[in-house]
Amino acid sequence: MFHPDPSAPATPPRIAGIADYRRIPAFNVAENARILLRYEFIERRLLRSMAGWLPGVARWEAKFLLGRLVWEDSEHTQTLRTRILELRTSERILDRAPSPNLALVLDELVLADDWREFLTGVAALKRALLAAYQRHLTQTQPLVDQPTVRVLRILIAEETEHIALLDEQIAADGGSNEAERTRLDAWAQRIALLLDAAGGVQGIDPVSYAVRSEDLRTGKKTFRCDYTYALDARFTPQVPRFIAGQAPFGDDAAGVYRSIAMGRFPEMQAAKGIALSIYENDGQPWEYYYLSARHLWDEVRHCAMGQAMLEDQGVDWTRLPHFVGNYHFYASLSPLERAIRLGVIIELAMMENGAKRREVELARKHGLALAETFQDYDWADEVNHVDYARRNIETMMHGDTSALDGMIADINRRYAEFRAPWEAKGDKF
Ligand SMILES: [Fe+2]
Ligand SMILES: [Fe+2]
Repeated sequence: MFHPDPSAPATPPRIAGIADYRRIPAFNVAENARILLRYEFIERRLLRSMAGWLPGVARWEAKFLLGRLVWEDSEHTQTLRTRILELRTSERILDRAPSPNLALVLDELVLADDWREFLTGVAALKRALLAAYQRHLTQTQPLVDQPTVRVLRILIAEETEHIALLDEQIAADGGSNEAERTRLDAWAQRIALLLDAAGGVQGIDPVSYAVRSEDLRTGKKTFRCDYTYALDARFTPQVPRFIAGQAPFGDDAAGVYRSIAMGRFPEMQAAKGIALSIYENDGQPWEYYYLSARHLWDEVRHCAMGQAMLEDQGVDWTRLPHFVGNYHFYASLSPLERAIRLGVIIELAMMENGAKRREVELARKHGLALAETFQDYDWADEVNHVDYARRNIETMMHGDTSALDGMIADINRRYAEFRAPWEAKGDKF
């Protein structure tokens, strides 16, 4: 016979681990979907704003962080969209701004005066988002809305980490002195007030602040992505050189290792080129931003691979000549041309000519374990990038790619022209 232990604390009843399953929620399906649409809108606009700022964020470590946040927020957006569509919501509603006041928060956020202020605004918005996600768990019905609960639990874990990582970058290198803190707190407060005017993240809170146009930067200032290749003061010099990894480092193991590292390290240029397109290329279907966000983060990680290998070789990567020419060329192209340049002219060609496979084999041949691992994953990423580029190019060309060959020839001609002044000076490419 079963004898319950009278001294054991009573366990609340659960179904499949879900407690409180008879709770009456604060909102129904339609209201739930309406709130989730606001989260989706904030995550989507936030990732595009972070991409827009990535090229202009001088602090090297913050560029890496933004790359990761752009991708993870694209995953948040994607998973929210999937859930919203399950809640009797049509896909047509997904790409609209839920309210002009909420859109204004994102419009202002990007108009930060500098990168530290921008990161502060992002952290402020993420704090509000995190609080809303946590509150949502207490508002919804845990059994029937369990798929939303699961999504939010993942988002809560990641947003908590994002905020801590942003705070670390904001405080680093002079960001925590008192005058700077006061200035940054004022901007975080502005973002909080604008959210208040929008009824909070969820749009259901009482409004205590009315927006006054004289308090806004919108209308007085416009944001433009950085085309110069912003870098912090540690990095000198910048050189316009276009292709890395070609320098004569020798064909022994040490030379090959240096050459592989120098091939990956300048890939921040590719990441920055994609970042420009994510921000500047308005009106594309969601899939375009979703694929581009992943492509961006992969290229940021490829650069990080180079950094890790240089560190492994005892090289101070801040003292290396920093190649910027490819970014300047990307900046001169349209979003479609950038996708063709990176995805077809570079990445598809490397797949077809076996360059990516050879890099793995070369590292293996010389017993370079870390380089072999990195190149193996780099190759795996690049296979996906060719697919992302094909899909994004088809989207941008509205399914008719008959002009593609002509565009490839034109981009190649312009690239040769772009390099010509440096080549004339005897610079090796
Ligand atoms: Fe890459
Ligand atoms: Fe790539």
